[in-house]
Amino acid sequence: MSPRGSWSSRIGFILAGAGSAVGLGSIWRFPYMTGENGGAVFVIIYLVCCFLIGYPVMLAELTLGRHSGKNPVGMFKKFSKDNSVLWKGVGGLCVASGLVVFAWYSVIAGWVVGYLYKTAQGTFNTRLSTSVIDEIFSNFVSQPILVMFLHALIIAATAFVLTGGVKGGIEILSKWLMPLLFLLLIILAIRSVTLDGAMEGIRFYLYPDLSKINGTVVLKAMGQALFSLSLGMGTMITYGSYLSKKENIPSSAMWITICDIWVSLLAGFVILPAVAAMGGSYAEGPVLIFKVIPSIFSQMPGGYFFGLGFFMLLIIAALTSTVSIMEVPVAYFVDERRWPRKKAVLLVTLIAWVIGTPAALSHGASSLLTSLPILATSFFDVISTLFGDISLSIGAFFIAVFVAWKWDLDLAAEEMRHNGRFEMETAWKFCIKYVSPVIILVIFIFTLWTNFMS
Ligand code: PHE
Repeated sequence: MSPRGSWSSRIGFILAGAGSAVGLGSIWRFPYMTGENGGAVFVIIYLVCCFLIGYPVMLAELTLGRHSGKNPVGMFKKFSKDNSVLWKGVGGLCVASGLVVFAWYSVIAGWVVGYLYKTAQGTFNTRLSTSVIDEIFSNFVSQPILVMFLHALIIAATAFVLTGGVKGGIEILSKWLMPLLFLLLIILAIRSVTLDGAMEGIRFYLYPDLSKINGTVVLKAMGQALFSLSLGMGTMITYGSYLSKKENIPSSAMWITICDIWVSLLAGFVILPAVAAMGGSYAEGPVLIFKVIPSIFSQMPGGYFFGLGFFMLLIIAALTSTVSIMEVPVAYFVDERRWPRKKAVLLVTLIAWVIGTPAALSHGASSLLTSLPILATSFFDVISTLFGDISLSIGAFFIAVFVAWKWDLDLAAEEMRHNGRFEMETAWKFCIKYVSPVIILVIFIFTLWTNFMS
């Protein structure tokens, strides 16, 4: 066993990996991204990207992590040999993405805490009109002290988990609670698709309207696939570094991928039909689920308890992800700078607080941050696109290129195979060498081109 510690068992690793993957990305981000980017076409491109880019890159990241036993920066340094600026830069981008994603992700996790509190107070016990629900939300997010407090609470809780050695606790917790979350999503999806007027939403979600495809839709679908599978910023490299040699990487990674996709697809079935039933707009953006979910609870028997359960489980799902996001920069400071873990956690917490605070204020609390000059969009949206979709795509591109063209593809396959068989070896090699990087490149060029043309 490596002195850095490792996962206790195979199931422990799958749970930690799935815990990282399944989170707000699937339940909060996927439905609103689908709503904003054309519905079913987005879902199809997302699925294609999960299998042609996501899964192969996940295998690559886990393998690089396990073979090097390092964080992304350390891994590139160790394996690139020449230590060129390019690979240093890619490692640095991973750490930077970890910092920024952690900062804005915690803002939304904080909102979930706020909504848990509102639900507990009974705010959604009676059936509320869409306009009242909208108003509750706008009042909530425009209170600067409150949103800043909730954001700070989440980063502090994550820091506590990472230093307090309760990480094992979280894994055990998620072993029992995540299946419960899944069950709850199924119940909610059933309620949602049987609401009056839900059909239109189901159609939007399932019947592709090809005229909706454009560069932005494709780029966002790819970004969402990577984001939701926790790829492109070295999370899986870092998690792979704690992985024992006994583990069969291809099958663990497949489990993680499938769990994550299922949760995302289910979340779509919860949210989009309900949007149609409420007569709302699909393109509400990041606020979508906070307007739709309370409405569903207010229209179902036992909604109070379902609501409490849902928001509680969502907080846990979010925490198992924030822990994995924060782990990337922390592992960097600990491994490369030889800092004590506590000091690394403290610094990352501070940076996340500084970057996250304007993100927390950019939904109404500050009018400047809510609609930035020139860009005419919120500070939150800008950093979520830059350090959600774009940086992860660049990261995934270079990780694929690195394994296939710079490191050693046969060595990688051997590392994965280890004490088992790797049936898809040839397919994986072909994918990581040609398919994944070429698709990412083509999507980038296509997006630039279409945005330029318009
Ligand atoms: N995949 C996580 C989620 O869906 C978010 C995440 C992104 C985690 C990138 C790690 C790295 O919530």
